[in-house]
Amino acid sequence: MPNKIGIIGSGNIGGALGKHFAKAGHSVMFSSRNPEQLRSLADAAGNNAQVGTVEEAAEFGEVLLLAYPFGKTPEVAKKMKDPASKIIIDANNYYPGRDGAQPGQEMQEKGLLESEWTASYFSGAEIVKAFNTIYAKTLETRAFDEKAPLAIPFAASGQKGKSVIESIFQSIGFVGVYVGDLSKTKIMQPDEKLYTLQISEAEMRKLIG
Ligand SMILES: NC(=O)c1ccc[n+]([C@@H]2O[C@H](COP(=O)([O-])OP(=O)(O)OC[C@H]3O[C@@H](n4cnc5c(N)ncnc54)[C@H](OP(=O)(O)O)[C@@H]3O)[C@@H](O)[C@H]2O)c1
Repeated sequence: MPNKIGIIGSGNIGGALGKHFAKAGHSVMFSSRNPEQLRSLADAAGNNAQVGTVEEAAEFGEVLLLAYPFGKTPEVAKKMKDPASKIIIDANNYYPGRDGAQPGQEMQEKGLLESEWTASYFSGAEIVKAFNTIYAKTLETRAFDEKAPLAIPFAASGQKGKSVIESIFQSIGFVGVYVGDLSKTKIMQPDEKLYTLQISEAEMRKLIG
């Protein structure tokens, strides 16, 4: 079923995925702090794509993709009026050199994984952790591969988010492999077991055990 998807952060990851989503028939709104710079991206994505501010994309999407520097979540969350009605797909990764020490300190103090830290800013939303383990280039080139679909690990905080992401994966030619709820996402974080792997569903299931 096609979804309305708001893309928050439309660079390497948000740009590549937004184009795939639009091609698959989803309605997409690309956003960033400079939406006027995203017009050519939306043109390339075709008729199912438009451009808006972060606030507009957050309002537009029943599903939102987070694809901006991890540390910006507190700022982005303030722009979202009604997170509890959303399914939020979190593709972000924490890199202290880029994102600063503060998120790391907060995660340590509160005993949170990266996905749980992000979820803590979007009260009541269903959170899906997905697309963070795959290089943008791989996402761009390996989508819609019917013969040998690439496996992408994901986690979900609820059943609705789990079904929606499974259907989104299918619509763009990847196969999702469920690792569990957000408490199981350490395995998906930078430099952990599933990070940057380009393998099949069977190989990934073996790794997850
Ligand atoms: N690149 C990869 O291969 C890869 C793979 C997996 C996961 N990731 C993760 O995915 C996220 C995005 O990576 P990327 O490579 O796509 O980054 P990118 O190419 O630098 O794009 C980042 C996007 O976020 C926007 N942005 C920056 N600050 C923002 C804010 N405060 N509010 C709203 N939008 C903001 C930027 O536009 P403006 O500056 O105009 O707002 C830009 O559109 C990161 O967390 C990264 O670690 C990246």
